[in-house]
Amino acid sequence: MKIIKLSTPEEIGMQLAKNLYQKIQVKPDLVIGLATGSTPLPLYAAFIKLLKEKPLDLSHITTFNLDEYYPMSSSNPNSYYFFMNKFLFSPLKLKRTQVNLPDGQSKNYRLECLKYENKINSCGGIDWQLLGVGVNGHIGFNEPGSKFNSLTRRVMLTQSTINANRRFFKSGEGVPIYALTMGLGVISRTKEIHLIATGENKATVVQRLLTEDPSTNLPASIIKKHPNATVWLDVQAAHTKV
Ligand code: GLP
Repeated sequence: MKIIKLSTPEEIGMQLAKNLYQKIQVKPDLVIGLATGSTPLPLYAAFIKLLKEKPLDLSHITTFNLDEYYPMSSSNPNSYYFFMNKFLFSPLKLKRTQVNLPDGQSKNYRLECLKYENKINSCGGIDWQLLGVGVNGHIGFNEPGSKFNSLTRRVMLTQSTINANRRFFKSGEGVPIYALTMGLGVISRTKEIHLIATGENKATVVQRLLTEDPSTNLPASIIKKHPNATVWLDVQAAHTKV
């Protein structure tokens, strides 16, 4: 696991935007794994800016997001689809057929998860995977205790995650207690992983990630077993709390 420490989230965003841009130049049909939350926003903004300065054909890329709340309609402003559309898909003018999120409206969530898994496989797997990390070490919505070989599935969110994500829910609606998430097994099979952790509230989980052996108590620690994973830290998240 490679560790890169930079001063600000914006610097991380710029470096990773360049990295992604170069990967698409080399492989125009790159399969990209995307994440939600506040952490990836500087990267998305930097990537959009880079594309404006140096246009690149994105018509052959495919994206897969890690997760979606369940049940959740894609038109709900609290949905991850809505979030991704606002901050990335729409500014980049990506077609609906290029972007994938688990369908939070599906009545049959088991079938939906299977279909999602199959679609990732039929695209040849994910080439470039972006991850944030929850304060309890979750990645996607794989909460502590998730098996390292877990597949895409419906999960129940922990109270810690519900509390942490409440800030995004502006319309008085409660945070759903379920979500559909790509499993840790799927994430571990991606070809290249970039995990970003920024801000002081991630310092404790970062310290755990850097010092603990891989274990299901800390789902993010699975990346320590990955042959091509990089952790991007800003000074605040890299700061060791005693
Ligand atoms: C959510 C998402 C995760 C994300 C995490 C951290 O729970 N499912 O993919 O990494 O939040 O979010 P933030 O970047 O806002 O701290």
